[in-house]
Amino acid sequence: MKNILVTGGAGFIGSNFVRRMTEKYPDYNIIVLDKLTYAGNLDNLLPVHDAPNYTFERGDIAHRATVERVIAEHQIDTVVNFAAESHVDRSILAPDAFIHTDVVGLYILLDVARHTGVERVHHVSTDEVYGSIEEGFFREGDPLEPNSPYAASKAGAEMMLRAYQVTYGLHTSVTRGSNTFGPYQYPEKIAPFFITEAIDDRPLPLYGDGMQVRDWLYVDDHCDAIDVALHQAAPGAIYNVGGEHELHNIEVTRFILQALDKPESLIRYVEDRPGHDRRYALTNDKIRAELGWTPQHTFESAMADTVRWYQANEWWWRKIKTGEYLEFYKAQYAQRLAEASE
Ligand code: NAD
Ligand code: DAU
Repeated sequence: MKNILVTGGAGFIGSNFVRRMTEKYPDYNIIVLDKLTYAGNLDNLLPVHDAPNYTFERGDIAHRATVERVIAEHQIDTVVNFAAESHVDRSILAPDAFIHTDVVGLYILLDVARHTGVERVHHVSTDEVYGSIEEGFFREGDPLEPNSPYAASKAGAEMMLRAYQVTYGLHTSVTRGSNTFGPYQYPEKIAPFFITEAIDDRPLPLYGDGMQVRDWLYVDDHCDAIDVALHQAAPGAIYNVGGEHELHNIEVTRFILQALDKPESLIRYVEDRPGHDRRYALTNDKIRAELGWTPQHTFESAMADTVRWYQANEWWWRKIKTGEYLEFYKAQYAQRLAEASE
């Protein structure tokens, strides 16, 4: 492993991964390929801007000629795919981009990889591919029953990855991470959205009864698991990556409000997300046993650090919350908030 292509490296988790890899592995060359959609942000990569082993390429993973050029020019031997449309609510409003990037984009990456001698493709997937579970925990062999267009696009990607592994012998691996939080997360996902809205004393729109359950994973732990899997996973291996910390959405919201010393009266119960998955939960048994990975951060300390990061880095998020962001905000929340109860 020498020349690693990190697709989607200007996004939230991808940029955390790039910062980690450039520092930890000075002998690797890290090449980022990112389209810079609304979610891609070069500010996320400022800390590595001058690193000698980092290069940025702007481009679409679904554009074959671009992928062929970047893989050839940089003699890529390893691909780690973070590139995706990643927000469930946007997939409900407009699924097209999700099919383009999450399914067609991964297919192009796989196909170019197999024709150019790339040794390994690691794909960053999600626990949402399983669907919702009332009790117990999802295991890697469980059927995929995705419920949102986003989750379906991620499940479709995994199916294509499997086909390239089985049919063409491409060395692939997959990690299915749970709800990830930390610095540099685009403020549309619940944690950074609620933190930044609460800082400005604005209402927090909690969907439905607020009793949905998510498993919370700190971004450093998520990137650590991808690093370990990238180096150790056998061909075709799939690993769950959970934070081992389940919480109801109302509990996450209260934690954020307390950390900011803001009142619970900011909470508004609004109309639910259509097809809203009630609970995500997965077991880490396999990755623990086979790769020795476990989460190192507690939710309490990592979320407290995250809240402090957003307080200290208004320069980063205030300029995001303009233009396209406000259009999405209006489409998503204006009517719901107008009808909401405290
Ligand atoms: P993000 O939305 O913050 O970043 C996505 C990045 O991909 C952006 O930089 C964007 O510009 C880029 N991108 C989008 N379309 C592209 C295209 N066609 N070509 C090249 N680049 C493109 O996402 P994230 O939260 O960092 O998630 C990263 C990956 O991890 C995604 O695959 C997501 O499905 C997965 N995941 C996320 C979470 C989570 O909680 N955030 C949990 C599990 C898995
Ligand atoms: O589980 C992993 C997934 O986690 C990733 O694959 C996705 O990329 C990531 O976006 C995330 O998906 P969720 O839909 O779980 O995350 P989100 O932050 O959008 O919502 C978390 C929960 O909070 C969910 O139950 C919906 C609820 N929510 C969200 C928003 C944005 C609200 O109640 N109000 C909100 O305004």
